[in-house]
Amino acid sequence: MKPPRLDPPLFGDPLGVVASPETLRFLARRRSASALGLTAPAPSGSELETLLRIAARAPDHGKLAPWRFVTLAGEDKSSFVSRLDQIAARRPDADTARTRLAKLAAPPLSVVVISSPKPGKIPDWEQTLSAGAVCFGLILAAQAMGYGANWITDWYAYDPQVLSLLGLDSGERVCGFVHIGTAAEAPLERARPDMGAIVTQWRP
Ligand SMILES: Cc1cc2nc3c(=O)[nH]c(=O)nc-3n(C[C@H](O)[C@H](O)[C@H](O)COP(=O)(O)O)c2cc1C
Repeated sequence: MKPPRLDPPLFGDPLGVVASPETLRFLARRRSASALGLTAPAPSGSELETLLRIAARAPDHGKLAPWRFVTLAGEDKSSFVSRLDQIAARRPDADTARTRLAKLAAPPLSVVVISSPKPGKIPDWEQTLSAGAVCFGLILAAQAMGYGANWITDWYAYDPQVLSLLGLDSGERVCGFVHIGTAAEAPLERARPDMGAIVTQWRP
């Protein structure tokens, strides 16, 4: 099989739509991995660059790039988790909060996707939707690269002390921690929506 072309297109390059049955097969069976079961190896530095570049191709009304990434890996990630453990210990729900850190601690790589809306005429709502699309794009790209991935928020996506530790400005919000690594076990299919209940055809 030909290796996929992952080099970024140049500005103005024609990018015709090409049918990709392999992508459809992949999407039809795509499944998040358990964060607790994510182990090394994580994507290499250049693989991570590719993943973030692909995620940043999300639809974006006004070309504002109203999102940014903070990566957590290696010893720096361990130190981040220790700081969160100290914050958790001071919370009223300390025991639960500390236990819930396990999903953050296990994966060898986590990418914090931050919604960073810009002032102007594009509604905040649309900028937030774009940030959600970035998260899903990152998951899809990581899984297409053969890694397990999972999008998680939990208390530390909302705790003001954690947000300050991450360097969030006012107006910014954490969309999620996208955990990436090698899936220890194949995830089992989960319940999916009843399509009949959520799809209607509008008629006058
Ligand atoms: C915004 C958002 C936040 C989430 N936060 C959590 C979480 O804190 N804990 C959790 O176990 N799952 C969380 N999930 C769900 C996981 O991503 C879940 O494993 C995933 O939806 C599984 O579905 P999939 O296999 O179709 O991707 C969250 C999902 C989204 C979209």
